[in-house]
Amino acid sequence: MLELRDLSHAWSDDQGQSCGVVADRLNWQIPRGETVALLGPSGSGKSTLLRLIAGLEVPDQGDILWDGQAITHVPPERRHFGLMFQDFALFSHLNVQDNVAFGLREQGQSKRAARLQALQALEAMGLADRGLAHVLSLSGGEQQRVALARAWVTKPKLMLLDEPFSALDADRRAQLRDEFKAWFKTHDMTCILVTHDQADAEAMADHAWRLGEGRVTPLW
Ligand SMILES: Nc1ncnc2c1ncn2[C@@H]1O[C@H](COP(=O)(O)OP(=O)(O)OP(=O)(O)O)[C@@H](O)[C@H]1O
Ligand SMILES: [Mg+2]
Repeated sequence: MLELRDLSHAWSDDQGQSCGVVADRLNWQIPRGETVALLGPSGSGKSTLLRLIAGLEVPDQGDILWDGQAITHVPPERRHFGLMFQDFALFSHLNVQDNVAFGLREQGQSKRAARLQALQALEAMGLADRGLAHVLSLSGGEQQRVALARAWVTKPKLMLLDEPFSALDADRRAQLRDEFKAWFKTHDMTCILVTHDQADAEAMADHAWRLGEGRVTPLW
């Protein structure tokens, strides 16, 4: 289970004035194996909340717990969570397959094993023949699928997806929603899906929450 306990976090400007509240004594529990959609207006802090959970930002106050253990100050690489960024954040100096294999190499897997799994993930994303391509030569939708493959391949216990399907055409979107949903269930994976798309939320999530004014409220 993921638990956010009394979490507070705000951005401040150069003068130290608060210029955006992301969390204000926010409490949230997500049971293991559940997929939740996180909705909320632009600028409400959805991406920042994912970065806090991933460990890329440290909250001002409060705790983040995984299976009852506080991980608030555990560095991101030791949390073993998967994060797919809203802007993809691909490594432009690596080709497609090495982008996807990166996390596996970080985990200490051999080059050969990492490459094999990367190719399988790329195949699942419909990019089997693009492994050697330069990432910047791909279309926006293809880059998004590389980012999805990179998050998918490490089989994280917690998957954090930030607008994962926004650049995809309707057919690919429907296909990947189904594949991700099945794959989460098979691996008993917990997922937070940030999306502006109600249909994504309804197709994939067990429950939906809204982030606003530093709190989460259940929608369904
Ligand atoms: N590095 C930063 N420094 C200061 N303020 C920031 C920083 N990153 C984000 N913010 C501010 O924090 C607030 C939340 O931003 P965030 O990107 O988390 O929102 P979001 O809900 O993901 O929005 P969107 O739906 O547009 O992706 C915004 O007001 C934003 O301007
Ligand atoms: Mg965002």
